[in-house]
Amino acid sequence: MNETHQIIRSHRSIRAFVDEPLADETVEAIVACATAAATSSNVQATTVIRVRSAETRATIAEVAGGQTQIMTAGAFLVWCADMRRASVASELAGIEAASGMTEHFIIATVDVALAGQNAVIAAESLGLGICYIGAVRNDPQTVSDLLELPDNVYPVFGMCIGVPDQDPEVKPRLSQHVVLREEIYGEDDVAGIEEYDEAMAAYYASRSGGSRQATWSSEMAGLLGREGRPHMRQFLADRGFTMR
Ligand SMILES: Cc1cc2nc3c(=O)[nH]c(=O)nc-3n(C[C@H](O)[C@H](O)[C@H](O)COP(=O)(O)O)c2cc1C
Repeated sequence: MNETHQIIRSHRSIRAFVDEPLADETVEAIVACATAAATSSNVQATTVIRVRSAETRATIAEVAGGQTQIMTAGAFLVWCADMRRASVASELAGIEAASGMTEHFIIATVDVALAGQNAVIAAESLGLGICYIGAVRNDPQTVSDLLELPDNVYPVFGMCIGVPDQDPEVKPRLSQHVVLREEIYGEDDVAGIEEYDEAMAAYYASRSGGSRQATWSSEMAGLLGREGRPHMRQFLADRGFTMR
């Protein structure tokens, strides 16, 4: 395994940080790696907002269900899918931008995810820890208001970055025979899921000192057995992502 693979495969989310701000140069170096990611049609639909205000971070932590790492991380970044900037450019070139296209929503969201993950690898290569915060979408309107996001821009996820104050185990992943297929999708690999359930049960037991009894299947049942953030469709439509 080379060093890059080693760093990528050592990833685990960090939810406890040493409470000291990251230097601007560190954040800038990380964001430079983020913006180097591939981007659909060079749209570069990512806008990153570093939130320093303790008050704003506290409100976002509350929106996110009390995730205190948002307040203590050395940097808290909100990664936004931004179709506004490209529309401004299009208008500069004399063409009114087609708004609300589903394809543009996909382009922007994928761009942000690729940039965000480049940032993660860059941060982890510096010995820093990270935690994505999808829970900014618990109340995306409040987050958008706090950050004064214009139409055609929405917060995809937040990201805590900082010096780790914990050293959790790496979480096991599905075996490669479950996720890597040859030529066609093929049969459901139920045995592969059951095998992973055993690995996850052992992981949760070890991480919780025996108190947490869960498997991947039980976690997925918890997630998929209820509606996930059903406000998102209307929120996105209100922000200009009308999905035509
Ligand atoms: C887009 C996205 C949003 C996430 N949101 C949260 C979050 O709000 N809070 C949190 O503690 N972890 C969050 N996570 C972290 C996942 O729970 C974590 O990556 C997953 O359980 C795998 O664990 P690992 O990162 O330690 O390998 C998020 C991850 C992703 C990719």
